Amino acid sequence: MNDQAEQLRKIVSSTKPVEDKAGNMKIITIASGKGGVGKSNFTVNLSLCLKQQQKNPIILDADFGLANVEIILGERPKFNLAHLIREECDLKSLITKSKYEISFISGGSGINEMFFLPPDKIESIGKSLVQLEDMTDILLIDTGAGINDIVVKFCMLAHEVYVIVTPEPTSITDGYALIKTLRSNFTMQSKIKVVINKASSKQEAHEVFTKLFYVCKNFLNSEIEYAGYIPYDEKVLSAVKSQIPVVIYDKKSKASEAYYQISKNLLTNHTLSDKTQEKTSWINRFKRIFTN
Ligand SMILES: Nc1ncnc2c1ncn2[C@@H]1O[C@H](COP(=O)(O)OP(=O)(O)O)[C@@H](O)[C@H]1O
Ligand SMILES: [Mg+2]
Repeated sequence: MNDQAEQLRKIVSSTKPVEDKAGNMKIITIASGKGGVGKSNFTVNLSLCLKQQQKNPIILDADFGLANVEIILGERPKFNLAHLIREECDLKSLITKSKYEISFISGGSGINEMFFLPPDKIESIGKSLVQLEDMTDILLIDTGAGINDIVVKFCMLAHEVYVIVTPEPTSITDGYALIKTLRSNFTMQSKIKVVINKASSKQEAHEVFTKLFYVCKNFLNSEIEYAGYIPYDEKVLSAVKSQIPVVIYDKKSKASEAYYQISKNLLTNHTLSDKTQEKTSWINRFKRIFTN
């Protein structure tokens, strides 16, 4: 037991691991309180829009069980994170390049396994994942529904968290509950941006955001930012049915234009927030977060 604690302390306090590259890669986690609000579609379409603007994002599908990203992209990856954990593949073969030229990592059962790994194993996964720095400038992490340990940890890892909310009252209250958990229980410092999805109008999106903004400000003393809105658009549904992301399926659709706008905002506001997080590399955060 003591040995283990000592080992853990060493890992957490090691200031200069060999693999530390002090991070140019930005990590953005996409989360929501409630499921079915549009996270996976947002993640995939946002990364396609970023790709169009000469970025090279990689998606980590951290929704254990549903694997929505690969379904939206119409792909069947050979390996998932569990294979990396069991050393059955390396990071390069874990990354699937989709037919639309964006790359993703399937979390698969590996996402759950991460919670039961000893610190030395976390360390070795960290060593593999740090190679992502050479492959991408933006890592987008799509999470599952609900406010659980997995979601919280991937939010803690991020430089920015995009919380997706729809105008449905339950989605707003669940979105608030997530923000509250991150800010109060875990005192997460990263920036929180809110996307209103499936809005019937710009005005409705603004109203929903304003409501959420004031509740967060008054009850959590925390300010959230508006990332933009995506209108409710039947084209998203048809695109999902065809297993083609909507920004490819119909570039001119309202939803596609909205995704593009949000991606543009993301790149212009890419100072990416928190100074203290910028100083510590994400890989150190990764080890600290996942060995706890
Ligand atoms: N802007 C939108 N307009 C209409 N339907 C949408 C929109 N965004 C998502 N959807 C639909 O909502 C459902 C859930 O989306 P998904 O991205 O899988 O959500 P999550 O990942 O949050 O569970 C899908 O059927 C999708 O087609
Ligand atoms: Mg999903």
